[in-house]
Amino acid sequence: MRRRYVLCGLSRRGLTTYAGPMIGISGDGTGEDHSATAQLVAVVDPDRDRVRQFNERVLPAGHPPVAWYRPDEFAAMVEQTQPDAVIVASPDHTHADHIVAGLHHGLDVITEKPMVTTVADAQRVLTAERTSAGSVVVTHNLRYPLRHQQIKRLIRDGAVGTPTYVLLEYHVDIRHGASYFLRWNRRREFSGGLSVHKSTHHVDLVSWWLDDAPVRVYAVGGRHYYGPDSPHRPRAAGGVPYVGDQLRRRDPYAQAQAGIFADAAATGAARTDDFGLPYTYQYPPERDLSPYDDEIDVEDTYTALISYAGGATLVYTIDFSSPWEGYRLVINGTHGQVETTAGRFPDGTPLPDTQQIVHRPLFGAARTIPVPVPPGGHDGADPQLRHDLFVGPSAASAELGLIATAQQGADAVAAGEAIWRSIAEQRVVELAP
Ligand SMILES: NC(=O)c1ccc[n+]([C@@H]2O[C@H](COP(=O)([O-])OP(=O)(O)OC[C@H]3O[C@@H](n4cnc5c(N)ncnc54)[C@H](O)[C@@H]3O)[C@@H](O)[C@H]2O)c1
Repeated sequence: MRRRYVLCGLSRRGLTTYAGPMIGISGDGTGEDHSATAQLVAVVDPDRDRVRQFNERVLPAGHPPVAWYRPDEFAAMVEQTQPDAVIVASPDHTHADHIVAGLHHGLDVITEKPMVTTVADAQRVLTAERTSAGSVVVTHNLRYPLRHQQIKRLIRDGAVGTPTYVLLEYHVDIRHGASYFLRWNRRREFSGGLSVHKSTHHVDLVSWWLDDAPVRVYAVGGRHYYGPDSPHRPRAAGGVPYVGDQLRRRDPYAQAQAGIFADAAATGAARTDDFGLPYTYQYPPERDLSPYDDEIDVEDTYTALISYAGGATLVYTIDFSSPWEGYRLVINGTHGQVETTAGRFPDGTPLPDTQQIVHRPLFGAARTIPVPVPPGGHDGADPQLRHDLFVGPSAASAELGLIATAQQGADAVAAGEAIWRSIAEQRVVELAP
């Protein structure tokens, strides 16, 4: 008997990661096919044209059309299509309503990170889950790369003793980073800001490694690369900023976008995703977006000091305009240290010497642990995540607790919100227990 799923948000992520493998199309080149156990029965998305084109152009021959519903038709969708579970992969600010609606109907919910965009919405989800027959899984897929599973095992097995200090220096490259400022993510009302949209990945990862939750946050940050005052904004003589095609021809970030939103960067035309589907609702063709627009209101640089209940401290930095993408990590403890670097350049070339973790006992010889990177999205994370969701928890998942709960999703959102609030209000933010 196949489990029936509704997808809220026919997004790039929703299509490549969940819908594709359910309809027998592998979105990340792994050849995965979950159509024997999972059936996509409906899509909830305001973009009727996008869903119509999905049905006409992406569904394999013989697959019945997937029913389309607007977000305000959730109850009718449940009544008419009888799903077993909801997958939420819409813009972040819309997650809360879909999750709560799913729980209200007693359905299991799988939601993309960040679970929601505000602490208030996280509370709504936790309250709804308490009285629902359904439960919530948050797809914090950054837990899944084998490198991160290995670090979890090292800490669990006492390789550093009691963790005291984590340094995570994260960079998002000029291509990926700029793309956030050309999409809905650039507005706090839609993404919660990048400390919620993106940093929830990183805070959740460290919390999971430490088996702990953040309690206090102090942060500084701002916008140094994007927005109207960007130092990279091309201007004509006299300082007047270029716009439209004149801008795109001179804009270093537009050049770096080639390959992600090639059409939009080159011509300002309607954007399409990896399957060639347009975003008619979200990005109307007449709307010309640039990384220098006035409406951008999220930060592009954060440095945060995050205290954990158990006494460890996370020193965390992230920027969204770097020559390479990835991170440097050091985890220090009472009895040793773990260190690794992961990343690649914007053209996909890996950084040198990144296929390893170094473990240094405080009073012993260092050892190097190689880390294989299996195929599939996000360094092999996504196929393992899908196995947990569509087949059942793997042995590694059961051993390490790879699947994130609603409470863990809420903890990460609380830290992400605290980061931007700490910056805005120039104060230490205590997180509610
Ligand atoms: N875990 C990861 O590695 C990862 C990677 C990328 C994105 N994501 C997450 O996936 C989600 C989708 O992001 P994306 O960049 O792929 O999105 P996207 O911009 O590609 O697509 C968003 C889709 O949602 C639709 N939409 C808008 N409002 C809606 C609503 N109220 N209800 C339902 N659908 C609505 C839009 O029409 C569009 O089809 C986000 O939550 C994002 O944070 C996670």
